[in-house]
Amino acid sequence: MVGGDKSLTGAMRSAMKNRETEAAWSYHNGTKHSYQSIRTNAHSLDWENQPIPFKIYSSLDPIPLPRQLSSSKTPALAAIAAVTAPGEESDMPTSQTLAEILFLSAGVTKRRSYPGGEMLFRAAACTGALYHIDLYLACGDLADLAAGVYHFSPHDFALRRLRSGDHRGALVHASGEEPSIVSAPAILICASTYWRNAWKYQARAYRHCYWDNGTLLANLLAAAAARRLPAKVVLGFVDQAVGDLLGLDAKREAPLSLVALGHTMPNILASAPTMEPLTLATVPLSKREVDYPAMRAMQEASSLASEEKVVAWRGDKNKESGKREDESGKKERLIPLHPWSDAEMPQDTIAEVITRRGSTRQFAREPIAFAQLSTMLDRAARGIPTDFLNPGQSLNDLYLIVHAVDDLPAGAYYFRRDQRALELLKEGDFRRDAGYLGLGQEIPADCSVNVYFLADLHPPLARLGNRGYRAAQLEASIMGGKLYLAAYAQRLGASGLTFFDDDVTEFFSPHAAGKSVMFLIALGKSVKRKGLNVV
Ligand SMILES: Cc1cc2nc3c(=O)[nH]c(=O)nc-3n(C[C@H](O)[C@H](O)[C@H](O)COP(=O)(O)O)c2cc1C
Repeated sequence: MVGGDKSLTGAMRSAMKNRETEAAWSYHNGTKHSYQSIRTNAHSLDWENQPIPFKIYSSLDPIPLPRQLSSSKTPALAAIAAVTAPGEESDMPTSQTLAEILFLSAGVTKRRSYPGGEMLFRAAACTGALYHIDLYLACGDLADLAAGVYHFSPHDFALRRLRSGDHRGALVHASGEEPSIVSAPAILICASTYWRNAWKYQARAYRHCYWDNGTLLANLLAAAAARRLPAKVVLGFVDQAVGDLLGLDAKREAPLSLVALGHTMPNILASAPTMEPLTLATVPLSKREVDYPAMRAMQEASSLASEEKVVAWRGDKNKESGKREDESGKKERLIPLHPWSDAEMPQDTIAEVITRRGSTRQFAREPIAFAQLSTMLDRAARGIPTDFLNPGQSLNDLYLIVHAVDDLPAGAYYFRRDQRALELLKEGDFRRDAGYLGLGQEIPADCSVNVYFLADLHPPLARLGNRGYRAAQLEASIMGGKLYLAAYAQRLGASGLTFFDDDVTEFFSPHAAGKSVMFLIALGKSVKRKGLNVV
């Protein structure tokens, strides 16, 4: 490990630090891309030291998961839009259902050979194809899976048991008895190993923790909805307690989010066994690891140290949002969305859509239909079941640069979510601007539409402390992941993108003044390249 330990201040101090939001500002401002920062960054990729994209437990036997996907008939576009909250009836997943959800969230969906070896691509898009997010499962006894804490191993599509017995009680406590966790027969936990992404992206990789968790969660929520299994994303928890349950190394790894899956009569608290520390060997990721203290500092500054803090944190989301309702929209510039009707809607299932999803490498500069754009926005922005958003609440605003959409003038737009309408901010051909804003890449210049998620970070940081930064990033990237799926459901292409932070804000100002970019995605028609599609 290189890099100092100066920013590691300990869990006790970090508990108080969540309210000291200069930490989030300092991390965010310190990891912005600008034309200048990219030109002067001397970082180059050390291919000899590239980390492997899997966490492999060397001493645990695999418990193979069923590989046969049973098909759910629910159309993907319905599943993407669903906002399922835990219901009243009992919904118990089986290992078959869990296997399908794990596969559609983080499974290996494509293998591509190249002269130096083979690349394994996954169900959800991930920055740099570095796949630093792992999924863990804590469950009670299910029909065909014994109670335990498991790691999902995508490389051999198996579970590995880290702990035997029902440990959900630890998560019930860690989440401050969040109701969906209290009644969940199965809880999935998402965690990042920083180095697997920071190898390429350095300290900006902390943003990628939430970006890549968000695309994965968009898949997970849609896969669960298609199986009518209630699912809810929980961001309020005692970080150290969750890390200890999974045996995470707090200097290198971080728990990011919990997902309550299913619903049963709550009886979890009674059965929590005592927990020994885990010391399980894993295969080294690379020859050596480089530490980026800014990531740990942000993680610690946004951590919650006790159940009481979690309960208080969650209560804070109900405080006045402080979000400025922008009244400047002129009616004559509002263009209502016109999504496909149910009868016109493409019917492909979520499994079909996820297994053909990829990131578009080249866009065709051709127009898409206004109904296609409308459907993507409409389906992606209907809300997300979480513990940090009330129904109808949102931390992000959607801004668009439209290059080529039938019946819509090219230009910059603001999405008025309440009115399901686009507001034209400025008309014109902005392909060159969009190319520049996306770090000079061709993708944002050649696509049909770019969608930027911008958050005014002041209200969420005031309400939720530094953890509000995690929430804003995660909400944007879950919606971004839904846009990916809504594009592929209509046989269009999509690609996540990185960006010059302040230049994007300036482009959409004065409307966007003071807001920060959380996520960017390009949408359009891909140029089909021969010989690259592999199973
Ligand atoms: C948040 C995010 C940002 C991304 N940024 C870029 C980018 O700037 N340029 C690019 O070519 N691809 C970008 N990608 C696409 C990834 O490279 C791609 O997801 C990864 O290689 C895996 O391939 P797949 O999406 O085809 O499965 C991004 C993806 C995500 C999720």
